Amino acid sequence: MKLYLDPNGWVIHVLNFDPRQPSEEELDYLRTLPFTNVLVVMHDLPVLTAQEYQDFCRRVYVRVQNDNPTKDKRFLPGSNREVMRVTGRLDEEGEMIGLFGMPEFLPWHCNQPAMPLDQRPDCLTLYSVEGSAGSITAYSNSSRALRDLRQSQHAPPGLLENLDRIEVFYNYSVDLDRLSDSNQDYEGPSGKNTLVVKNKAGIPAILLSNLVTKSFWINDQELNEQIYKTWLDYLCKFLTQKKYVYAHRWRDNEMTFNCQVSGQHARLPFARIEQRLLWRVMGVVTPFDGALRTDFPLYNP
Ligand SMILES: [Fe+2]
Repeated sequence: MKLYLDPNGWVIHVLNFDPRQPSEEELDYLRTLPFTNVLVVMHDLPVLTAQEYQDFCRRVYVRVQNDNPTKDKRFLPGSNREVMRVTGRLDEEGEMIGLFGMPEFLPWHCNQPAMPLDQRPDCLTLYSVEGSAGSITAYSNSSRALRDLRQSQHAPPGLLENLDRIEVFYNYSVDLDRLSDSNQDYEGPSGKNTLVVKNKAGIPAILLSNLVTKSFWINDQELNEQIYKTWLDYLCKFLTQKKYVYAHRWRDNEMTFNCQVSGQHARLPFARIEQRLLWRVMGVVTPFDGALRTDFPLYNP
C-alpha cells in the first residue's frame, strides 16, 4: 500500500492495495485515516466480487452497520443486508434495486445524522463496480470549515457566540429513489445531536446534514423559525464552499472511505445513473487519539 496526500492538504490517496489480502498495518491505516483526514480514496483496485468486498469491510470495521430499514431489494442479495446498492437500475417489475437512482443532483447530506453518536455508523465505504466513469461524488471537510467559521466576519448575529451550544433536531422521511415528496419510503430516525461534535479521532467538526435538518435548539428551547432559517442557510453555504470540498471523479474499481461526522457528501447530476453501480457499506471503529496526517508524499497522478 502506498499513501499520498492530496494537494488540498487533507484527502489521502491509496495506490498499490489489494483489499483481498490486507495486512494488519494496512487495516490500521484504514481504521484511522478516514477520521484524521476525513476522506480516503483507493485507486486502481483489483476487480472485487461482492463477497470479497463484504469480507474486506468486515475486517476493517469493528462492526458493519448498514441498518437502513428499507426494502430488501435495495441490498445485495445474500449479503445479510450489509451491502447496499447505489444505482438507478430497475428490476423486471420496474422497481429500483438501489438507493438514490435519480439522475439529478443528490444534495449535500450525511447518513443517519439523528442517531446518538456512539451508536451511529460513522464511516461509509463506496466501491465502484461498473458504469461509474463520468460520475462525480463531492465530499466536504467540516473540521477545516469549523476552524475558519469561528473566525468568520460575516456570520449572522448570535451564531458564533452560540455555536457550541446549538443542538440540531432531525426528523425526516425521504424517497430513496428520487428525493421527491410524492413517494416517501424511508423514515429516518429522529433525534438531536450537538452541531459541534468530536469524531472518532477526537477532532472537532460540524455535524450537519443540509438535506434533512428540522430545527435548532439551545438549552432545550427551540429557536424561532427566522433565526433557524438564517443560521441554517449560512451554515449550509459556509460548509460546502469549494475550498472545503474534494470532488471525486469515479472510475470503476475504486473505493472511498469517508467519516460521516466530519463532512457531508453530494452527487453531481449524472445522466447514466441506471448504468452505474456502486456497493455501499457503513460501519464503526473504536475511538482513538488522532490528528490530521500530512506526512505523506504529495499525490501527483
Ligand atoms: Fe449518501
